[in-house]
Amino acid sequence: MQARGPLMVEHRLIERMLSVVKGVLAKIESKHKVDPVFVDIAVDFIRVYADRTHHGKEEDILFRELNNKQLTTEDRRVMQELIEEHLFGRQTTKALVAANTRYRNGDETALTDIAANLQTLTDFYPRHIEKEDKVFFPSSRTYFTDEEDQAMLEEFWEFDRKMIHEKYKLLVEGFEGRI
Ligand SMILES: [Fe+2]
Ligand SMILES: [Fe+2]
Repeated sequence: MQARGPLMVEHRLIERMLSVVKGVLAKIESKHKVDPVFVDIAVDFIRVYADRTHHGKEEDILFRELNNKQLTTEDRRVMQELIEEHLFGRQTTKALVAANTRYRNGDETALTDIAANLQTLTDFYPRHIEKEDKVFFPSSRTYFTDEEDQAMLEEFWEFDRKMIHEKYKLLVEGFEGRI
């Protein structure tokens, strides 16, 4: 398997989650309400899976290695764009959390903001994935030897191995901080 393999497998699961979100958006439209627990779970998926685990491998390993290469102006521009899109995703998620808190506290006008932020995620993220799968990953691959690509794949597995431990360590630390 090439290093981009696990990243593309993760893209497929993110797409499936985005389809679930689209279904929830349709329900918000028809029923004028949302389950805040669903929003919590969607946020957890976005933060822990899509951002920390998936973008983590892209930014901390793939982009780090690409920074040591002489990228073409175009490839460097696309990499910068991808980093900015990751940041945009984080800001949108933060706004979603804020709207969900308002909604949970009884502010029904927050429903519009929840829907708008979910909509933003379902609109922009598939284009981000497509840019990586069809444009950026294939051209990144040309900068690496087979050995370098396999070394990244190994590092990806190692990165993944730490994730579940990191997630629950942070959870416990979060509770301890509140006591
Ligand atoms: Fe990405
Ligand atoms: Fe990605």
